[in-house]
Amino acid sequence: PDRYAVVGNPIAHSRSPQIHARFAAETGEHVAYDRILAPLDGFTVTARDFFAGGGRGLNVTVPFKLEAFELADQLTERAAHAGAVNTLWIDAAGRIHGDNTDGIGIVRDLRDNLGVKLAGARVLLLGAGGAARGALLPLVDAGPAEIVIANRTEPKAEELAQSARAAATRVTAAGFAGLAGRFDVVINATSTSLDGDLPPIADALLKDAGFVYDMMYGAKPTSFLAHAAICGCAGLADGLGMLVEQAAESFFDWRGVRPTTGAVIAAIRAELA
Ligand code: ATR
Repeated sequence: PDRYAVVGNPIAHSRSPQIHARFAAETGEHVAYDRILAPLDGFTVTARDFFAGGGRGLNVTVPFKLEAFELADQLTERAAHAGAVNTLWIDAAGRIHGDNTDGIGIVRDLRDNLGVKLAGARVLLLGAGGAARGALLPLVDAGPAEIVIANRTEPKAEELAQSARAAATRVTAAGFAGLAGRFDVVINATSTSLDGDLPPIADALLKDAGFVYDMMYGAKPTSFLAHAAICGCAGLADGLGMLVEQAAESFFDWRGVRPTTGAVIAAIRAELA
C-alpha cells in the first residue's frame, strides 16, 4: 500500500487513522495510514525521513502546522492565505506540496451536511487565531454577504479582516462588546471550549442566530454549544463533521478520489460516546 500518516505532538488521541481507514475501505484505495509522534523540536526531520522512506503524504496537527507551511516547496492558495498547512504530499519530482483543508472542511460541513445557507448570509466568526485564519478564505469563497470577525484581542481581528482579498463579501472586525445585529451563522473559532469557557458575547446574539457552530467537538456538547442551547438557539453543531470533511479533502489531494463522509461522521460520533 501507499503510506500516509498524521504527525503531531501529542498524537495518541488523533482520530485521523480511523477516518482514513474508513475512506480507504469505502473507495477501495490501497493505502496505509499511521500516526507518528514527532519530538517537539523534530517535525522537519520526521517529515523528511517519512518522505525519504517512501511515504506519500502527511496530515499535520498541533503544534506543527506552521512548520509544515515552511517545509512545503509549493502551497495551495488557501494554504498560503492560512499561513498554515495540515496536508503534505510529495510528487514524482520529489517536490513537497502543502495544502490547508480545514477551511473547506467547515464550509462543506455547514453547507453540504448541515444545510446551512452561506451564500448571502451574515456570518460571525469568533476568534482570530490559527483556526479562524484557516477558515477565512474558504468561508469568503462560499459567498456570504458579510463576515464579522470578533476577537478578544481586537487588533488581531482587524489584521485578519484586512488579509481577506477583495471579494463581494464584506469582511469587518469587532471586539466582543461591539457586536450588533442578527447573524445567520455564528462560528466559534476560539479555543475557549477546550477549557469549558465561553467567548464573552451577548446571549441575545446566540438566541437570535440562525445557526451556531463550534469548531471544537467532544463526546458531550461543548461549553459553547451548551450555552447557545440555553440561550434558545435551535440550530447547533460541533466540529466533528469539519474534522471528517478536512480529512476527506486531504484524501482527495492525495488520491484524486473524494470519499463520501456521512457514514464516517456517524461512525466516529458513535465511537466518541
Ligand atoms: P487556534 O489554532 O485554536 O485558533 P490560537 O491561534 O492560539 O489557537 O488562537 C486562540 C483563539 O482563541 C484566539 O482568537 C484567542 O483570542 P486572543 O487572540 O485574544 O488570544 C481565543 N481565546 C483563547 N482563550 C480565550 C478566552 N478565554 N476568551 C476569549 N477568547 C479566547
